[in-house]
Amino acid sequence: MPSPDSLRSAIRDVVDFPKPGIVFKDITPILGDAALFRDAITLLAASAEGQKIDKVVGIDARGFIFASAVADRLAAGFVPVRKKGKLPWKTCQVAYSLEYGESVVELHQDAVSPGESVLLVDDLLATGGTAGAALELLDQLGANVVGVTFLIELGFLGGRSKLGDHKIDSILVYD
Ligand code: PRP
Ligand code: ADE
Repeated sequence: MPSPDSLRSAIRDVVDFPKPGIVFKDITPILGDAALFRDAITLLAASAEGQKIDKVVGIDARGFIFASAVADRLAAGFVPVRKKGKLPWKTCQVAYSLEYGESVVELHQDAVSPGESVLLVDDLLATGGTAGAALELLDQLGANVVGVTFLIELGFLGGRSKLGDHKIDSILVYD
């Protein structure tokens, strides 16, 4: 299994983006490096080791980058949770707040069937508002969420507490 150390070294801190007081974790140096990107996908996919996953659900937009590659690795389908107004068919919606704003996320009503095994993947857990909203959508559809996986967790923001009793894995935790 790859070491997460080189992923941690590659992440760039950008101060005061997108708002004063926020230290933004820039993952683009990982995405642009073939070996680091592959290692990130390997580590994220390992969180579902030994489990049959029907659908990997990714969150708009950075979550898509990782979740779709993890879906391919796990031979699962990919399902997008999108920001309001982007999905064309019937949706369910949940409003939420995140570290630097507020938004609404949507999921197609037929994206996951009741009882299907789902792995939720996003790049980063901060306050937990976004992932919590995605879990609420999946709950509305009767999904069996077997895990929630992040590349980065900002542990000092306590986002985990918003995700119920789900199995949560983070590759890199910042305390
Ligand atoms: C970022 C990140 C997570 C969310 C985490 O998404 O990708 O989804 O914030 O924050 P939270 O735990 O406080 O909710 P953002 O809404 O900035 O969208 P993007 O992926 O389109 O940049
Ligand atoms: N999403 C929420 N908080 C973030 C942060 N500090 N860096 C990058 N993405 C984020």
